[in-house]
Amino acid sequence: MLDKSPHSAAVNVPNDLAAHWMPFTANRAFKKAPRLLAGAKDMHYFTVDGRKILDGAAGMWCSNAGHGRTQIAEAIGKQAATLDYSPPFQFGIPQAFELASRIADLAPKGLDHVFFCNSGSEAADTALKIALAYHQISGQGGRIRLIGRERGYHGVGFGGTSVGGMVNNRKMFGSLLTGVDHLPTTYDREKQAFSRGEPEYGAHFADALENLVNLHGANTIAAVIVEPMAGSTGVLPAPKGYLKRLREITQKHGILLIFDEVITGFGRLGYAFAAERYGVLPDMITFAKGVTNGAAPMGGVIVRDTIHDAFMSGPEHVIELAHGYTYSAHPLACAAGLATLDIYRDEKLFEHARALEPKWNDAIFSLKNEPNVVDIRTVGLTAGIDLASRPDQPGKRGFDALNSAFFDNDLMMRIAGDTLALTPPLIVSEEQVGEIVDKVAKVIRAVA
Ligand SMILES: Cc1ncc(COP(=O)(O)O)c(C=O)c1O
Repeated sequence: MLDKSPHSAAVNVPNDLAAHWMPFTANRAFKKAPRLLAGAKDMHYFTVDGRKILDGAAGMWCSNAGHGRTQIAEAIGKQAATLDYSPPFQFGIPQAFELASRIADLAPKGLDHVFFCNSGSEAADTALKIALAYHQISGQGGRIRLIGRERGYHGVGFGGTSVGGMVNNRKMFGSLLTGVDHLPTTYDREKQAFSRGEPEYGAHFADALENLVNLHGANTIAAVIVEPMAGSTGVLPAPKGYLKRLREITQKHGILLIFDEVITGFGRLGYAFAAERYGVLPDMITFAKGVTNGAAPMGGVIVRDTIHDAFMSGPEHVIELAHGYTYSAHPLACAAGLATLDIYRDEKLFEHARALEPKWNDAIFSLKNEPNVVDIRTVGLTAGIDLASRPDQPGKRGFDALNSAFFDNDLMMRIAGDTLALTPPLIVSEEQVGEIVDKVAKVIRAVA
């Protein structure tokens, strides 16, 4: 019989938090000083002990419409009571088709088909697989290489990890996918420090793709995947002209271009998608997070007509793409997505974000002379603030800042090493922007 008698915890924690092995978390430190949340409304979280925390991170770049939106909660509840689950293979629900159409309407013209999954990681892997399969069925099966970028983040599947460019996310996991290469990062602090919005310097980093083409041969490369603004490595906006140049080079060589818009989708940069902000048409866009306001797990890939249509041949009873998930287009996620898109439209939240951007920039840049600030970057309603590392303790100042924000200043933010990342819900008011910046200033001084 299975022994269920109490046993000593593997980690020494003074409470009952041991069983939950938390993702991307310093587990032992957390369990000694837990940051436990119990509720959320609009711009605030509430802790289990009743403190009100200002959300400077939209949860995790998800809750663009703020928290506790009754419209979304009611839509999910109603859906759960009406049709809780429906198989997405060979069966469908009207809400999935409606949501796909609404997302396609928001996307640039030509990107008209949506494949649903449940997360950003699945979206990245799905897009990479569609790229490989597309070349395969188009008589170019030799195109098997996938190109990512240093400091890129595309989630934690084997595909996304392979094309990703964050060493800590890669180094423990073996050889990952073969046939993967990386563009250089677009970040050069010496040339770009304290740029507001897209840096002037750095469009030429896209030319490195020509080097990879020369190295591997264009006809071995399937796709390039990049974030229009690299979020998880600390908010790195694309340099001016970079994405356009990348599009020109990929097009010249028949390489598909995938924008990973898991963060930038749904208004974060003031537009439905960053592709619109930059006037660049990729072949696929991945999304997740903001599509449901974070209220239900959902991700997806928006695919260009030509790619989708290439699959629609052969006998009609045959499955065209052998890919999908048990929870693709889950009814609760579809209901959440539809209610979320209504709110974005009715409250003009993308426009609000765009209008607020200059004031957000000014407010964030007022932190420039705070102790240890070595760079500030902003674009849309995002900001990355680099703090100098403590000697021999990379990441420690950032970690201390996270705790100072949460425990002493009632602020939620994100950290990437010693970079503070701020990305409030798009409903943030000008006054609340001021409040966030005041709190961040206190945090930076506290960890000086
Ligand atoms: C650009 C990008 N792609 C993919 C992902 C992975 O998303 P998920 O955590 O939903 O798998 C993230 C998450 O932050 C992301 O920022």
